[in-house]
Amino acid sequence: MKVTGSIALDIEQAGPLTAYLRESGRIAAGESPRVTVLAGGVSNRTVLVERGNGEAWVMKQALAKLRVKADWFSDPARIGREAAGLRWLAELAPPGATAPLLFEDHANHLLAMRAVPRPHDNLKTLFLAGLVDPDHVIQFARLIGTIHRRGWERRGEMARLFDDRSFFESLRIEPYYSYTASRVTDAAAFYADLIAQTRGRRFTVVHGDYSPKNVLVHAGSLVLLDHEVIHFGDPAFDLGFASAHLLSKAHHVVACREIFAAAARVFWKVYLDAIGDVPWAGDLEPIAVRHTLACLLARVAGRSPLEYLGEADRNRQFHAVVAMMCRPPGSVDEMVGVFVNEVSDAGH
Ligand SMILES: Nc1ncnc2c1ncn2[C@@H]1O[C@H](COP(=O)(O)OP(=O)(O)O)[C@@H](O)[C@H]1O
Ligand SMILES: [Mg+2]
Repeated sequence: MKVTGSIALDIEQAGPLTAYLRESGRIAAGESPRVTVLAGGVSNRTVLVERGNGEAWVMKQALAKLRVKADWFSDPARIGREAAGLRWLAELAPPGATAPLLFEDHANHLLAMRAVPRPHDNLKTLFLAGLVDPDHVIQFARLIGTIHRRGWERRGEMARLFDDRSFFESLRIEPYYSYTASRVTDAAAFYADLIAQTRGRRFTVVHGDYSPKNVLVHAGSLVLLDHEVIHFGDPAFDLGFASAHLLSKAHHVVACREIFAAAARVFWKVYLDAIGDVPWAGDLEPIAVRHTLACLLARVAGRSPLEYLGEADRNRQFHAVVAMMCRPPGSVDEMVGVFVNEVSDAGH
């Protein structure tokens, strides 16, 4: 792997960051913004910069070594991909659904975007607290459906801009799909087929990290973050990734099981409505189902297991999904029903 030199600037250090912002002319020479380190991410440093004039920025700096237990490296040049994502999603996503890009500096592996104003909530935090607002689910589906539809409409340009899939391969296909396949013999052929199919399906702009954790809710509207694995590829991946989050919560938040099951069904219906008559809509459903199963298993047996699922949950999800992979349901409706039944029958 190519890693572009070691970077001296650490944006989590307020003094050096302020000096950098002054020297690069981003702020006035005498200005001292308030710098707050934001928690949450594993692959970047993320810092809130609040200026005296009332402006608030979030700066992200890509790390070469991710903050996980295992040694996991990724080229920090991916910050350039995230900046491209921010720039183009401003045109593809619904208005206000992404943060405006302010500036980028590839040499220091950083970018700045406008901060989502406070107060805001993280959609994952709301979901795990059982606060499932139907309008949030609708927006969550419409947001990705709009990106997929517009990405397809502008496919000539988008296919060139987001042609490179190396970060998607190293941060998604390998840790979620290939690694899980290597650990779960009974799922190996399922993943091999799905990986080959995914590489061959190149229809539109795919976010690649479409998780409630990467969505903030401000004044009732969703704002999507974290675009470092964006690429031109298979929209079914985003559907599977997102649906696996909804279904893992149906499993985990027992009191809201039916609410999350309904949310997964609504997500699919609203999404279909948002993509409209794109020619790849026809055979999307069974493929989206297969990505959902692949992600459900990856989130309990891959390199990046969901932290809120305990050992008993992980085992139950593991067995339910491996059984479903033998005869994958043909529709989202059926998949949701079977998954919820399987985990409920297993005594949870
Ligand atoms: N534009 C923004 N406005 C407000 N908070 C943000 C913004 N961008 C990121 N954050 C905060 O930083 C956290 C990590 O950002 P994210 O882009 O998801 O980084 P990572 O790639 O490390 O996961 C988010 O969950 C959010 O709380
Ligand atoms: Mg994130």
